[in-house]
Amino acid sequence: MNLTDKVVVVTGASSGLGVEFSKLLVAKGAIVYGLARRLQKLQALQDTLGDGFHPVACDVRSEGDVKAAFSDIIQKAGRIDALVNNAGLGQFGPVDELTLEEWEVQMDTNLRGVFLCTREAVPPMKQQNAATGFGGHIVNIASIAGLIGNPHIGAYNATKFGLRGFSESLMKELRDDGIKVSCIYPGSVETEFASVAGARPSSSTHRMQPEDVAATVVHVLEGPDNYLISEVVMRPLRPRG
Ligand SMILES: NC(=O)c1ccc[n+]([C@@H]2O[C@H](COP(=O)([O-])OP(=O)(O)OC[C@H]3O[C@@H](n4cnc5c(N)ncnc54)[C@H](OP(=O)(O)O)[C@@H]3O)[C@@H](O)[C@H]2O)c1
Repeated sequence: MNLTDKVVVVTGASSGLGVEFSKLLVAKGAIVYGLARRLQKLQALQDTLGDGFHPVACDVRSEGDVKAAFSDIIQKAGRIDALVNNAGLGQFGPVDELTLEEWEVQMDTNLRGVFLCTREAVPPMKQQNAATGFGGHIVNIASIAGLIGNPHIGAYNATKFGLRGFSESLMKELRDDGIKVSCIYPGSVETEFASVAGARPSSSTHRMQPEDVAATVVHVLEGPDNYLISEVVMRPLRPRG
């Protein structure tokens, strides 16, 4: 899709990949609604990006927050052309030391949050398809941990493997509604991710840059209507330098 004047919702827009997605999308002429809990960070991003970026305070784990956010976006923008399900976190450690809260926060953010946001974005996209023959595009940011299991990241692996299954199902379910679904599997990226409480420093010292991942995601979004890149795997060439 040509991103000029398209309405794109990016979750987890207050740091890391979400910031870079928002920057590049606004540079392409899209109208970006950025969701996250830290409103001040979103507002600071709006100061940089200007009127093309709209901060929306939203905890993606909360059904009420998500419904309110999407209803507000639809009321203001009238449509949703793309949704980038990016909000996510990982809390790592030996399985017998993982607390139930650590398990649940990952499930609730990385899976429940994606479901809640997707459920709000699909009806307007179906309406757009009925009106124009093209519905929109949902991009799910999984991880290489959605393809490869490793010690001490079992809960995170479970969420990202789960997101792969959800994405593949949606890709097949929604294609006849003119809605594309893509799942992205980045390896280690230089963001705040590893500094979140409970996260383990990555063994990779030469991590990918978030702007490079953003360039790929925008490329996926910009494909012609009848051309779907359904999965992308990216990793550092030399993770340990
Ligand atoms: N960095 C990596 O190495 C890497 C590799 C592969 C995949 N990924 C995936 O990429 C995505 C983005 O991660 P990142 O590396 O950019 O990490 P990050 O810098 O820690 O950013 C995570 C974003 O998610 C948001 N978020 C977390 N919980 C949320 C909630 N309950 N409601 C709304 N927003 C929430 C955070 O915003 P608030 O805290 O303001 O709510 C923040 O904007 C994640 O899904 C992650 O699993 C990362």
